[in-house]
Amino acid sequence: MKFASEREAAAAAKIAHAVTLLRAGELVAFPTETVYGLGADAANPAAVAKIFAAKGRPADHPLIVHLPDAEALDAWAREVPESARRLAAAFWPGPLTLILKRQPWVSDAVTGGQDTVGLRVPDHPLALALLKAFDGGIAAPSANRYGRISPTSAAHVRADLGDAVPLVLDGGDCEVGIESTIVDLSRGTPAVLRPGAINAADIARVLDERLGQTQREHPGTATPRVSGSLAAHYAPRTPLRLVAGDELATEVKAALASGGRIAVLAYAARPSVAKNIFWRIAAGNAAAYAHDLYASLRDLDAAACDTILVEAPPDTPAWLAIADRLQRAACGSGEDDET
Ligand code: TXA
Ligand code: MG
Repeated sequence: MKFASEREAAAAAKIAHAVTLLRAGELVAFPTETVYGLGADAANPAAVAKIFAAKGRPADHPLIVHLPDAEALDAWAREVPESARRLAAAFWPGPLTLILKRQPWVSDAVTGGQDTVGLRVPDHPLALALLKAFDGGIAAPSANRYGRISPTSAAHVRADLGDAVPLVLDGGDCEVGIESTIVDLSRGTPAVLRPGAINAADIARVLDERLGQTQREHPGTATPRVSGSLAAHYAPRTPLRLVAGDELATEVKAALASGGRIAVLAYAARPSVAKNIFWRIAAGNAAAYAHDLYASLRDLDAAACDTILVEAPPDTPAWLAIADRLQRAACGSGEDDET
């Protein structure tokens, strides 16, 4: 095969190495547009078990299977509804995971013993090249230790998982920065299980009247387990508190007066106080904020402060997924959970 440049040849060699590892039942971390994934051959339960061991994740938490394209849907899901085809056509490759009834052969190791499977086609050139070359499904949760901050760079993955993963494909910083939107289409009533960059209005627009119809036919069903839906998740080690914008100045003063060091993520500029404060200015638009969010949380955590204060984001649909991640970071941070 001819390559246009040495860089392309090197990338192709990396992909070939990754495929060899996956076929041998080993783990490969890879970039997606949302966060880095910790991948294993989804058709190999022993390989999938290594994901849970490396992450320290409870074995009954289901994993997302990443596919090379929407044509692969039917190999993994059964009774695929028209709504799934529409959403896949509209948003794949992209940050949307569909929960569908699984094909009977899909292993309990992937589904956490549920009769459903989460599927998505990621929008990242390296991920797509890997999936096409592997020619199968790659099960991959976010490549972080269970409950901690998701990785948005190869360096984050190495810092978190170290030698537990034999290969980390480096695709630079993740563009979206927060995990995919998860929509459950397995129970008749489409339901957003985890908010993300694609919001409920985007989904409703594509499903239009079909959404209303299904809702009338199948009212109120229980939602399946989603580990990202546990209150404590995506958490730094330093206790994190969300503070309303108009209370921030008072909170900062109070924290400093009590002798602590504080780290702050706020829309406003740093106050003139010089000591005991680490200040990070947050992006004013939701896409840029999401892109930076996990790297910012890592930096705030690494600043060795007693508390992290985060100015609460606007209460609008565009900021919903960010507010969701921040609330979970607030619940899960610190040693003992007071907030
Ligand atoms: O953006 C993403 O979705 C990233 C990248 C790597 O694709 N992956 C990710 O994986 O966030 P993870 O495991 O950290 O979160 C996947 C979520 C979990 O909360 C899991 O419980 C849920 O998807 N999930 C997977 N399969 C499911 C199923 N059959 N039913 C309900 N929830 C499911
Ligand atoms: Mg995760």
